[in-house]
Amino acid sequence: MGAVTAPIEIAPSILAADLLSLGDQVRACFEAGVRRIHVDVMDGHFVPNIALSAGHIAALRPLADEYGGVLEAHLMIDEPDRYLGDFRDAGSDIIEVHVEACPHLHRTTQRIRQLGAVPGVALNPATSLTTIDEILPEVDQVLVMSVNPGFGGQAFITGAVGKVSRLRATLNARGLGHVAIEVDGGITVANIEALAAAGTTVAVAGSSVFGGGCAVAANLAALRAAADQPGGRGSSW
Ligand code: DX5
Ligand code: ZN
Repeated sequence: MGAVTAPIEIAPSILAADLLSLGDQVRACFEAGVRRIHVDVMDGHFVPNIALSAGHIAALRPLADEYGGVLEAHLMIDEPDRYLGDFRDAGSDIIEVHVEACPHLHRTTQRIRQLGAVPGVALNPATSLTTIDEILPEVDQVLVMSVNPGFGGQAFITGAVGKVSRLRATLNARGLGHVAIEVDGGITVANIEALAAAGTTVAVAGSSVFGGGCAVAANLAALRAAADQPGGRGSSW
């Protein structure tokens, strides 16, 4: 693969947004140049927390359409197959399922594609890349969790950087360089450069976009500046 010139994409996670003004917060993201909004869905079983639903996707759909935006559902739920239709009907463009929750991952990803959405597979920090060896040709993106899923605002697990490097090398070696690598959890100005250099395509960020007492636009600008520092983007893929 040749050098990549596109900057790392930042996907705000609305888990950290002020839910009372969710529309305004998401609009601020789109106005600041964001294309993709990340929606964390938690069932209280797969992860020890309950959050967001297809209803949030449906509510955000018209706003996303106004800006040509993309809505991504990160399903941290058991038996995701039961709800794929609901999330697609609500307006999800991308549906991500956890490899740990899918005994028939090939069937699940095929179903997502049949529904007209883009399939992604997500891995918990302790889940090996070998678990997705067989499914890589079938997906458009891999979500590498850099925290144990369930909560926003957790500390970044540094081992995720090496995991991204190894996955990027595997994808390149197998002629799958088009597969996006997304990283989710604990991303800040302190680690986004290393993630970009390792071959991350999309950085999901909640607290560092919606928190910290600064406006969303300023937070996004700080993250982009940190990611675009010299050395912030590798040229190996
Ligand atoms: C964690 C979620 C993440 C989380 C990221 O289970 O999947 O998307 O909201 O939030 P921060 O950036 O605060 O770690
Ligand atoms: Zn997420």
